[in-house]
Amino acid sequence: MPAYAIIGGQWGDEGKGKVVDLLSADAHVVARFNGGNNAGHTVITDAGEFKFHLIPAGILRPECTCIIGNGVVVNPDSFLEEVAGLRERNVSVDRLVISDKTQVIMPYHTLLDALEEEARAATGKAIGTTGMGIGPAYMDKAARSGIRMADLLDEEALLKRLSFVLEQKNAVITRLYGKEAVSLEETYERCVEWGRGLKPFIRPVEPILQQAFAAGQRVILEGAQGTLLDVDHGTYPYVTSSSPTVGGACAGLGISPRHVQAIAGVYKAYTTRVGGGPLPTELNDEIGEFIRQRAWEYGTTTGRPRRCGWFDAVAARYSASINGVTSAILTRLDVLDGISPVRICVAYKLGGETIHDFPTDASRLEACEPIYEDLPGWEKATASARSMDALPPEAVNYLKRVEELIGCSIDMVSTGPGRDEAIIVKPIFQS
Ligand code: GDP
Ligand code: IMO
Ligand code: MG
Repeated sequence: MPAYAIIGGQWGDEGKGKVVDLLSADAHVVARFNGGNNAGHTVITDAGEFKFHLIPAGILRPECTCIIGNGVVVNPDSFLEEVAGLRERNVSVDRLVISDKTQVIMPYHTLLDALEEEARAATGKAIGTTGMGIGPAYMDKAARSGIRMADLLDEEALLKRLSFVLEQKNAVITRLYGKEAVSLEETYERCVEWGRGLKPFIRPVEPILQQAFAAGQRVILEGAQGTLLDVDHGTYPYVTSSSPTVGGACAGLGISPRHVQAIAGVYKAYTTRVGGGPLPTELNDEIGEFIRQRAWEYGTTTGRPRRCGWFDAVAARYSASINGVTSAILTRLDVLDGISPVRICVAYKLGGETIHDFPTDASRLEACEPIYEDLPGWEKATASARSMDALPPEAVNYLKRVEELIGCSIDMVSTGPGRDEAIIVKPIFQS
């Protein structure tokens, strides 16, 4: 019966990959439900470092079936490259499945992502997308002009559909942006090749999930991005184009919310953001730089420096409530070792007023100034700690205050990037 959702509680890169890998030791299925290769999920095991963009982080567990759901947008080249990389490292991909309903990121999506960003940048409003074609692919899905995995397998029908869609795309590419039209022949040939390469992975995934639930197996729903990047609930328009929240998990896999037994919100002990958009607690000073260097806060997908700031409890409480988080998981506590005081944003000042609710409207949030509470830092290292007893009292105090502020218990604390560097306060799987 149970599904367990692992959801990013901030602006992405919270450490979801590490958490999913750790928890998938006790799971049968791990399923991605949103985003595409804009995601970068890092896992470190004895076999070294793995960076997953599309493949669920459960793939390193030989017992786990890994699913890419209908809510994901897949760049076939990126997927096949990841598969090849895993095979080279002797990781089996036999249990890897892509839903036949999953949308394909086409070459014209990547092109349009760049052109749209260029146009936005000219008005000073670039989103700072990853450039992977994510927005244009989801636009086509909603416009009912998308190409799905199943379409790649029906070569004759594909040609007809692609001719129609490309005519529309080329009108925009040539007339609006003044660029060269995309070739139908080349695009079609690429799709046919992709279809042949992807065929062994494409299948309806609903029966696999239903069978898992019927057999009482554990299913992990692996979120990409974070709640504050959600297309509806994030800091619009500085968001991604999918739904990284728990609601997106049900829609993005075709499962009933009745199956979701626990919702784990993953939070960093501080805050980061890549790309444009408001970040009230941003540190444009030596502490921000210190955190960036110590934690190597550079994007897993694009290599861009991540903007760093203090923990924002207003934003975290908001994302906990949007998702109905049942367990908070705090990662990268060790990064704060030796910093004193540690600050937590507990409210905002907006137009002379103190506000406690998170304004998702980007211009309102941009005008917010953080109100901080200072807590004493800790000298003794938390790095690699595996029990609460091993933490210095100031670090325990910090965790307690974060819990109080976000209104949810912290059931796991990650104290390093390695698989076993974690404190399990309370089991995340409750059955
Ligand atoms: P994701 O997108 O949420 O999976 O996160 P990323 O993989 O993009 O970024 C998280 C980074 O933090 C990765 O480099 C992880 O190896 C690393 N990491 C995860 N947990 C911890 C932790 O507790 N401490 C430290 N120092 N690093 C961590
Ligand atoms: P994971 O799963 C952090 C950000 C981009 C940009 C915005 C829109 O690793 O946490 P997009 O290419 O999606 O249209 O870009 O969203 N973004 C992420 N930031 N982690 C991610 O994924 C992200 N995926 C997208 O930087 O600001
Ligand atoms: Mg990431």
